[in-house]
Amino acid sequence: MTEPTVSLTHLLGLEGVSAADIQILLDTGFTFREVLDRPIKKVPTLSGINVVNLFFENSTRTRISFELAEKRLSADVTNFSVGGSSLDKGEGLKDTVLNIHAMKMDAVVMRHPVPGAAVQLSRFVDAVVINAGDGSHEHPTQALLDMLSLQERFGRLKGLKVGIIGDIAHSRVARSNIFGLLTMGAEVAVCGPGHLIPPQVEALGVSVVPDVDDLLGWADAVNVLRIQRERMGAGLIPSVREYRAGFGLTNERLARHKREIIILHPGPINRGVEIDSDVADSDQAIILDQVINGVAVRMSILYHLLGPRAAG
Ligand code: CP
Repeated sequence: MTEPTVSLTHLLGLEGVSAADIQILLDTGFTFREVLDRPIKKVPTLSGINVVNLFFENSTRTRISFELAEKRLSADVTNFSVGGSSLDKGEGLKDTVLNIHAMKMDAVVMRHPVPGAAVQLSRFVDAVVINAGDGSHEHPTQALLDMLSLQERFGRLKGLKVGIIGDIAHSRVARSNIFGLLTMGAEVAVCGPGHLIPPQVEALGVSVVPDVDDLLGWADAVNVLRIQRERMGAGLIPSVREYRAGFGLTNERLARHKREIIILHPGPINRGVEIDSDVADSDQAIILDQVINGVAVRMSILYHLLGPRAAG
C-alpha cells in the first residue's frame, strides 16, 4: 500500500491547508508518538538532511521541540537565535536567504516577529520553510499539536466544541487554531475582552461568546491563551486582578459547570492570571500532553516535507 503524502511544499500557516493534509500530518503524528514511547526513540529517516532552526524571537517550547524532533529523525541540526529587539527586518531576511543558500540547507524552521516573514522566505530559498510563529499571523505547528492532543483525548475533531479564551486579536495561536479546527469540522467560539476580539472574526465561521461562563457551559475543550504582559503595558489589558476576574480559569469558575472541560494552554503559563495554578495542574488540563505531542507532530511535519529529499 502506498503511504499517503501531503500536497504541501512548506508549512507557512494552516489557512488554506486541506483537511486531507491536516489528517495525514495528525495520523503520522500518532505514529511518531508511539516511537517516542519506545526505549530507543531515534529513527534514521532524515539522515543526511540539514535543518537550521532560526529563532529571531524568544521561544522555549517550540525551539526545543523542533530540535528534539529533528534529532529523533537523525537530521543534522544547526541552531541560530538572535534577540528580536535589534532586528532590522529587511536586512535580517536578506541575510537569512544568503546564508541559507551558502550553507545548502534542506530546511529552515523560522520564528520571526514580522507577520508574513516565513512566506517571504519561502519565495527566495529552495529549502523547505516551516513557520514556527510569525508575529501575530500564524503558528501552524502549535495548532497541529493542539489538534493532535484534542483528537487523542476525544477520538475526533469533527463536531467538537472548542473555545479559545484571551487576546484573540494578537494571537497567532488563535488564528492557526481557528483555521485548522474549522477545516477539520470542529465548532470554534472565541471569548475575551471585547476590544481584543477581531471585528471580522465571525466571518471566518467562529462564534463570539463574550461571557466566559457561557463559553464553559458550551465547550468540550478550551484553549487558554497566554496573556502577554506587554499588552498590559500598552493599556490593552486591564490589571492582572481584573483580567483574572473577567476571564481567568479558576477552580471556582470551573466548579459551576458539571461537565469536565478539557483545558489546553500553549505556554508559557501565567499562573494566577489566565489560569490558576491548581487548574493548570489538574487532570482536566492536558498541557503536558501538548508538549510531547508537539515533538511527535513536528516529527510528522519534518518527515512529510523532507522525506522526499531524504529518499532522493
Ligand atoms: N507555545 C509556544 O510557542 O511557546 P514558545 O514561545 O516557548 O515556543
